[in-house]
Amino acid sequence: MAGSKSSGSPSDSSVAAEIDELRSSINYHNERYHTMDAPEIPDVEYDMIVRRLQELEAAHPGLATADSPTQAVGGAVSTAFAPVTHTVPMMSLDNAFNREELEAWATRVANGLDLASEAAPVGYVCELKIDGVACSIRYENGEMVQAATRGNGRVGEDITANVAGISVIPNKLKNAPAVVEVRGEVYMPVGVFDALNVEMEAAGLPRYVNPRNTAAGSLRQKDPSVTAGRNLHFWSYQLGLVEGGPTLGGHGDALDWLAELGLPVNPERRRVSTIDQVVAFTDNWLEHRHDLDYEIDGAVVKVDTLSRQRALGSTAKAPRWAIAYKFPPEERTTTLKEIQVSIGRTGKATPFAVLEPVFVGGSTVQMATLHNDDQVQLKDVRPGDTVIVRKAGDVIPEVLGPVLSERPKGRRKWKFPSNCPACNTQLIRPEGEAHIFCVNPVCPAQRQGRIEHFTSRGGLDIEGMGESRVALFIEHGFINDPGDLYFIDWAEVAALEGFGQTSIDNLNAALAASKTRPLANLLVGLGVRHLGPSGAEALAGHFGHIDAIIDADAESMAEIDGVGPTIAQSVAAYFATPEAEQLVDKFRRAGLNLEGPVRSEAPQTLDGMSLVVSGTLDGFSRDGAAEAIKSRGGKNPGSVSKKTTALVVGAEPGASKLSKAEDLGVPVIDEAAFQVLLETGQLPTTNE
Ligand code: IVH
Repeated sequence: MAGSKSSGSPSDSSVAAEIDELRSSINYHNERYHTMDAPEIPDVEYDMIVRRLQELEAAHPGLATADSPTQAVGGAVSTAFAPVTHTVPMMSLDNAFNREELEAWATRVANGLDLASEAAPVGYVCELKIDGVACSIRYENGEMVQAATRGNGRVGEDITANVAGISVIPNKLKNAPAVVEVRGEVYMPVGVFDALNVEMEAAGLPRYVNPRNTAAGSLRQKDPSVTAGRNLHFWSYQLGLVEGGPTLGGHGDALDWLAELGLPVNPERRRVSTIDQVVAFTDNWLEHRHDLDYEIDGAVVKVDTLSRQRALGSTAKAPRWAIAYKFPPEERTTTLKEIQVSIGRTGKATPFAVLEPVFVGGSTVQMATLHNDDQVQLKDVRPGDTVIVRKAGDVIPEVLGPVLSERPKGRRKWKFPSNCPACNTQLIRPEGEAHIFCVNPVCPAQRQGRIEHFTSRGGLDIEGMGESRVALFIEHGFINDPGDLYFIDWAEVAALEGFGQTSIDNLNAALAASKTRPLANLLVGLGVRHLGPSGAEALAGHFGHIDAIIDADAESMAEIDGVGPTIAQSVAAYFATPEAEQLVDKFRRAGLNLEGPVRSEAPQTLDGMSLVVSGTLDGFSRDGAAEAIKSRGGKNPGSVSKKTTALVVGAEPGASKLSKAEDLGVPVIDEAAFQVLLETGQLPTTNE
């Protein structure tokens, strides 16, 4: 792509040509991002093109022009909404991509303030950089009168009716001055985005690509009721024009004031005085970014003192007193080399992309799931395409879609293979299923998948028995099913290349340890369709022995809390097969634990309640507290909402959960009150 060209020592005309190409590329991507809400390339690649243009313009000042996109903010103003001229321009931010660039910015700030002669440290406010859509909202005498997008920074679009329907943004402010303009980011919470995509998939429609684009599209709807139905949220982070407000000394004070006015201000903000503290803030959020229910793409660092901000001023595009510290990207483009199909333990055929390796989301990715045939067809990715790959946190890498502008004419659509790549049996798509299956019970790929699943963490957790060893042992005929693992002839293994006595001893120890795992793990390890850890726990806890589960019929299993008819039927059908009978027999002969702890039914004191736990409790681990709540009929979601019965706080609770509980009037209780609640179902009475 244009941003990765090397400069060498080019002639003036080749530089001019590259500059031209970069400018038109940036204008094109600006239009896609800001006007169409449909960016084609990830932010990091856009940033790289802009960087390249900035460098060339700096090295060749004669070629810099006033209309270059490096001199402007955002995109063109669309005509779909009425124009709004911003009283105070809505600026963009300069970026720092590493610590050195952050320090270079801090040095420019200190020099700009002539701080050598001043003793006081600069003082910064660190904030999260929300990946959403910038918006300016104007209140007059406390009433919302106008809301606008950023547009080109000077003129935005009037989206008042849409913003008025966003429930977290107040239409009236408390104790407001004559005029206050607040700037912030409208975003779509990840939970809302995921739920929307579940609906899309159920309706056979293409998934939305990411929360930012979806928020942008939702905000710029012609029908405000569509926006209102999308459950958008907002964090305020900057003041625009203010008339008649209090005298504020610092940006931190301004944010506190916005919160007092009743506006949502992100609690994860911090005043600090050194760059080391800034870096501690950014490092912490780089690690914890996925603990939040909204996407961030970095941190924003602002000089706190407002008089210092004024002294530093701005360039044409961005203030000198602030910097965006960008996190490494979670989306990149790369080439889709081919699409292959893998067969899982249940025979499910999953298409996946084989990629030109790309560093994204902290690791090199060369394969990514494509989910199922419908998704491949809806995304219409074709071998040879440039595609956008996303890897966020622990989530497995995913191909989001093709970059259509880079697809040559005549590239053929991909077709799902008709036969199993492992056993050549014809693949089948059962009626009403989103997935295609290999139904050959002796398919080698399924066998491999079943044994790997059995040895995995969620199953019997047999260390050292991973994909390649399982494949090797199958290949040599040592194992055909998980039960065979316990009857391997180690003398034959010792004859294989690469197997010393130490490896064999370690494998034997791991197999011996696996024999004592809880019954629920064994049940999960069997890979029965629909049976996950909680269903397995429920069965083990209720029946106490695998034989009792084998003897039970589907109706009696379905009555158990946490099981239900789908799991019950699947489990009953599984244990009716001769393969299951033989397998359990091998487990019995090998001496595996087949007994489960019989659970005494706890009284359902929390029926209908929803408790959120934050911080460390003395008497419960995180999982233990969740178990205590659920076993008494309560729910234990990860975040506070209007439906939360109480927030239980231990040591060092999360600031965002606490402030949300306070905002929503959700009772906050300590561990002692939690104990009482578990036993009696009663919340402590308050003396208010
Ligand atoms: S301050 C004059 N603070 O990032 C300063 N911006 O890449 C205006 N953004 O245009 C921006 N979180 O849309 C600021 N805490 C934050 C932010 C933030 C996200 C967005 C905003 C801005 C863009 C710049």
